[in-house]
Parts: sequence; C-alpha cells; structure tokens
Amino acid sequence: MSTYLVSGGAGYIGSHVAAALLDGGHRVVVVDNLQQGHAEAVPEGAEFVRADVGDAAAMDAVFASWGFQGVIHLAALSVVGDSMRDPLHYIAKNVGNTMTLARAAMRGGCSRFVLSSTAAVYGDPACAPITEDEPTAPASAYGASKLMAEQGLAWASELHGLRWASLRYFNAAGADPAGQRGEDHAPETHLIPLAIDAALGRRAPLTVFGDDYPTPDGTCLRDYVHVTDLADAHLRVLGLLAEGTGRSFNLGNGRGFSVKEVIGAVAEVTGCPVPHRLGVRRPGDPPALVAASDRLRAATGWRPRFGALHAMVETAYRWRLKNPEGYAGTRHVPPPPAQRDTAGALQLDSAELSG
Ligand code: UFG
Repeated sequence: MSTYLVSGGAGYIGSHVAAALLDGGHRVVVVDNLQQGHAEAVPEGAEFVRADVGDAAAMDAVFASWGFQGVIHLAALSVVGDSMRDPLHYIAKNVGNTMTLARAAMRGGCSRFVLSSTAAVYGDPACAPITEDEPTAPASAYGASKLMAEQGLAWASELHGLRWASLRYFNAAGADPAGQRGEDHAPETHLIPLAIDAALGRRAPLTVFGDDYPTPDGTCLRDYVHVTDLADAHLRVLGLLAEGTGRSFNLGNGRGFSVKEVIGAVAEVTGCPVPHRLGVRRPGDPPALVAASDRLRAATGWRPRFGALHAMVETAYRWRLKNPEGYAGTRHVPPPPAQRDTAGALQLDSAELSG
C-alpha cells in the first residue's frame, strides 16, 4: 500500500482520481481549499486537509505528517475565458502553486509527481489526431500556465531528479458509473452538463457556439474522455514513475464528436429534446481537438473502458438525476478538516485554488 497526495481531490476529476486510488488499495490524502471543490466530493476513506497548495508552510506540514510515494496535482484555475481576462493571475497561481507543491514534495522526500495538464497547450493545432510531437502553442493564458508548469517540472527532473509526468487531458466527461460523484461547477461552462440541464428544463436553451467551422457539420469537434478512464490513467502513470521519470502524455480516446452529435446523444439518453439556439463563435475555440494517445497506451497499457459517447452522457445523466442540486444535495458529509498539532497552517484557506 502506498500513500498519495491528491491536490484538488474535492474537485470533479480529483475526486475520481482519489476514489480510484482508494479502490486500488492505497491511502489517499486530499488537499483542497474548497474554493471550487466540494467537501462532500472527497471520497470516504480519504484523509482530507483543507489547505491551499500555494501555502509552502502548510504543504511542508502535510509532507511531514505523511510519507508520500507520490503526488497527483490537479488543483488549478481552469476556466479558459477567465484566464484571458486576468492572464497574470492564472499564470501566477497555476505555475507558482505547482512549483510550491513540487518543492515541498522534494523537501519531503517524495520523488513522484503527476501534473494535471491540458490539450490547451497545443492551441489551434494544424493536425488531428494530435501527438505529443505537435508544437505547443497555447492560445490561452490557461494553456500557457499549464505548459509553463510542465516546463518547471522538467527542470526539477533534470536538476533534482524529480520523476514527473503530465497528463494532457482532452475533454473530461461523464461521472462514476455508481453515480456517487460527478461534475458540479459554478458556473457550469461545459457542454455535456449544460445540454443535460437544458433537456431537463433546468436551465435556458443551450447556445451552440458557431456552426461555420471547417468540420463535417460545422460545429466544433472535441475528444471526450470518461472521467473514470482518466482516473485510471493516473494510477498507471504513477506505476510508470516507480520505474523512472516520465514525460507528457496526451489523454483522450482518439475520436472527435461534434457539438451537434453531443446534443443528439443527450436527446437520446434523456429521451428529451435539447432546446438550443445558434450563437456566435466562442473566442479561442479551435475547430477540432482530438488526441493521439499512443504514447500513453504504449507506456502504460491504458485503454478506455467508457469510450462511447453514450456511456459518458449516460453516467453524467445518472449523476444529475441522483443529485439534481449537485453536491449541495448530498447527505454524505466527510469529517471536518484534519487538525494536526504539527500545523495549525493545515486549516488555512488563503487563496483561490481548487481542483
Ligand atoms: N459549447 C457550446 N455551447 C456551450 C458550451 C460549449 O457550443 O454552452 C461547445 C464549445 O464551443 C466547444 C465544445 O462545446 O466546441 C466543448 O466545450 P467545453 O466548454 O465543454 O470544453 P472545451 O473544449 O472548451 O474545454 C475543455 C476544458 C478546458 C481544456 C480544453 C482542452 O474545459 O479546460 O477542454 O481541450 F482546456
């Protein structure tokens, strides 16, 4: 049994990663400041420390309290549009906090570090599917911040022996098949939950951001990857880092679905039409983002189990039906934040990050 730190483990992807680690028989310590995450999303069985990963003293205390075999760092600001309104804030937080956490990990004797990264590092790529050899050219401050964080870790690897890898997520989607955890963002900006809520009449009609892209039906193509498959990839990469250092890996299914196809799938799964109207293009949206994940497959044996769009929509729908108010309506409330005499600082909630 190993012990892993999951930053942002109260968020959408982080909570699935934490649950997968627990299912794999490991101990998990979730660090999250709950600015965007939900205490109720922290899986039962995980230790929970409410703290900000940018707080070096608090992170030192966390590393002093547990001996970690690895860190999975997901806590970050991740709304592309926000990053274009305040780029320096995004870069300061996402880069600075990654470096703070990595330095605390190295001081704490932990040499395995997995970064949650993004397809946004490629910007508007010339080809699809995209391999890791595609030049990185972020089109948003968010994408740039993740690329800079990757570069910082590469330096730590070269100069200090940190074993690191980054997983460049394409479009995380779906919810755990048991319906215990799922997507609950405020505000919600992602296509599938918005389309489901529009179908259920829980929000205004969906706006399709442009239908004049150079794609088969004119709407953007995205590579949706089920969050359970995404979580599985993290465990596999941790295993890889036990053997040596890693690199950046694309994480997607290799198949693009258009906005119109997603709307069709939501209508089929819910049995309700998805009220929608055509709007203008959203600034910064590339026409197509589809992953070539061959590097990850070859290195770790990763294969998607829920690659079908219907499986993603179905599990997201199930979560929504079971939790119409998101985590606000759930009954499971985890114990209060850890109170350790080594560090009053563990209870700090000083900045804006969360997974
Ligand atoms: N879309 C709409 N209407 C909406 C919301 C989305 O038409 O109301 C469209 C978007 O234009 C896009 C597609 O649906 O073509 C998917 O949009 P999402 O907002 O769900 O996801 P993105 O592709 O914009 O972004 C996601 C993550 C980012 C990450 C990016 C990398 O949210 O953090 O994938 O591929 F950077």
